[in-house]
Amino acid sequence: MTTRINPSILAADFVNLEAELARIASADLVHVDVMDNHFVPNLTFGPQMVGRIQDVSPIPLDVHLMISDVDRWGPGYAELGAASVTFHVEASDDPVALARRLRSIGALAGIALKPGTEADAYLDVLDEFDQVLIMTVEPGFGGQSFMHDTMPKLRRVSEAVRAAGLDVRLQVDGGISLDTIGIAAEAGADTFVAGSAVFGADVPADRIAALRDLAAA
Ligand code: DX5
Ligand code: ZN
Repeated sequence: MTTRINPSILAADFVNLEAELARIASADLVHVDVMDNHFVPNLTFGPQMVGRIQDVSPIPLDVHLMISDVDRWGPGYAELGAASVTFHVEASDDPVALARRLRSIGALAGIALKPGTEADAYLDVLDEFDQVLIMTVEPGFGGQSFMHDTMPKLRRVSEAVRAAGLDVRLQVDGGISLDTIGIAAEAGADTFVAGSAVFGADVPADRIAALRDLAAA
């Protein structure tokens, strides 16, 4: 699986988003964190904003939905043209049905697992998803420290994906930096979200390249 670096615009300047997106054009996808102040204790933006990001972004959208009632709201993000839509399993009444719906609209479908959410219930249905997002912080805020204790779960999912010969991306999100990306790569991640590590750099493109090199090392 080729390495993907997906900068999170949560760490970008929200009033200059078009210019911020241009600074990360060498990345693979732009990670878009949608929060509703209900599923997580923070609030970002919704479909109208994501639609405009979709219009102006030089790279495809990797939408991360940290919202409740995602069965109702999730498909709209696929209809906007997002390349992938990832939702938290607790927020859906039927994650497999929602993933099928997202795929039928033309998006890749991902499930997200919070640090305290076990993967076991999903290991037998991994073929229903294109991506599993292993959260490496508690969802809600950028700039938190990488939780090393999430790595055994990543390894377990990675082994299950490999054993079944599936084409499922393993994404990590939270605290990914020059210091931690190698740890997650070694445990099986191939897709890396980085917010503060990219937008906190003087030259985001150089930081993206450095992260990419370390992930592949
Ligand atoms: C946290 C978000 C992340 C966040 C990561 O809930 O899902 O995508 O932007 O930020 P950093 O890379 O700064 O930890
Ligand atoms: Zn995220």
